[in-house]
Amino acid sequence: MVIFGATGDLNRRKLMPALFRLAYDRRLSAGFSVVGVSRSPLTDDEFRQRMCEAVKQFSEDTQFDEEVWRAFAQGLFYVAGDIGDPALYRRIASKLAEVENARHTGGNVLFYLSVQPSQYGRAAAGLGAAGAAKGNGWRRLVVEKPFGHDLESARALSDELHQVFQESDVYRIDHYLGKETVQNILAFRFSNGIFEPLWNRRYVNHVQITAAESIGVEGRGSYYQEAGALADMIQNHLLQVMATIAMEPSASFQAQSVRDERSKLLRAIHVMKPEEVAANTVAGQYGPAHVGGKEMPGFRQEPGVEPQAPTDTYAAVTLLVDNWRWAGVPFYLRTGKRMPKRVTEISIHFNPAPLAIFDGQANEMAPNLLIVRIQPDEGISLNFISKRPGSGMKLRPVSMDFNYGSSFGERSPSAYETLLLDAIIGDATLYTRQDMVEASWTVVEPIQKVWREAKHDLPNYAAGSWGPASSDQMLARRGHVWRQP
Ligand code: BG6
Repeated sequence: MVIFGATGDLNRRKLMPALFRLAYDRRLSAGFSVVGVSRSPLTDDEFRQRMCEAVKQFSEDTQFDEEVWRAFAQGLFYVAGDIGDPALYRRIASKLAEVENARHTGGNVLFYLSVQPSQYGRAAAGLGAAGAAKGNGWRRLVVEKPFGHDLESARALSDELHQVFQESDVYRIDHYLGKETVQNILAFRFSNGIFEPLWNRRYVNHVQITAAESIGVEGRGSYYQEAGALADMIQNHLLQVMATIAMEPSASFQAQSVRDERSKLLRAIHVMKPEEVAANTVAGQYGPAHVGGKEMPGFRQEPGVEPQAPTDTYAAVTLLVDNWRWAGVPFYLRTGKRMPKRVTEISIHFNPAPLAIFDGQANEMAPNLLIVRIQPDEGISLNFISKRPGSGMKLRPVSMDFNYGSSFGERSPSAYETLLLDAIIGDATLYTRQDMVEASWTVVEPIQKVWREAKHDLPNYAAGSWGPASSDQMLARRGHVWRQP
């Protein structure tokens, strides 16, 4: 595996700990090797030392095993250079030949681009020109998000990558698809007969998808102020989650079949006309606040952020799906930084019972709710109405709960462990494809365009709160309220 951006944050926090865990679980072949690529001049040993520190610091639930590390570290190598310099790719090619010989890798290479998105095309072209994109085994390319910043740039980037790698060898990563709880949506929907008949406009009233984060921009101010919440979270992660919840059953669990269904769903999302954007979307930005006796900075006070940055750190959208299953059912998606807590969940709100026959209990008649908790308290709950014990017919909502932790008592692999292993074995089921990325930009781009010209009055929510009031109004227009996770 060749990792571009090897001294960067993503590699230190996510990729190396995931690879180390895979080594610890004996999931990697004996000769598995990593060639780290970055600008800083480092020896192999210095690189190994840095990676060792990263693994110790960021492996959340894996004990550091010296013996496993020693064996794993023997396969770590480093090549320094500038991504724009053709000589770098020649050095990579010769390092690959050396490693292939010494460690019998069979010539299979996974390239991972964890660099500035503007460098993706250049890196692919460099590999192509140096002959490193072809070899004795397979060659695949994993690209991190964001994939483009609008439809046109996403298309142009695919074209650039296709000069060197075929689409089937391009793995666009969306780490939400690797989360156990997101994969479980497929298991839940397609292995349980009782939910399928309910999964449509006749029974589902609306769906809410919330991805709230308590953190701010954590030193990524300069990237984030360009991207904003809509592009950073909704265009990719939340639309993929929505596609997984709403897609048609796939005929098989083959990568192509599952991806085709996700893609069809994304393409069925109603693309807003400019005049529809104001009523169906909300942009927010957090301002400074005192929370629990502590001062919290506003977004514009974060390091690397311009004092007048117009960035959305909160985004909410109402999406409709133009197909027979979902016509008229609103899907509300929201995400924000500096919310009161970190929680990602999907709630499916079913239609209320057709008639309230229990006198005076109308207030207790909450509609049935299915909640899929993606993180951190992973599980699924079904809420329904029950009779309270005692005389008379007093009602109360109750909940039936499944919790991963207590049901399985096993560790869940991190999303990156799952996705890296999938790319190594050539299973693209959980990766996004060119048509999916383009369909997502097709949905998001008209919103971005209107927002850019709208000049929102920002900031409009206090750090540590649930976002702007206009977000509640967006749901109220259709008679709904956000569920408080
Ligand atoms: C990333 C975004 O893709 O996902 C970040 O760029 C965000 O801004 C992160 O914090 C959230 O991921 P998770 O797995 O912590 O929910």
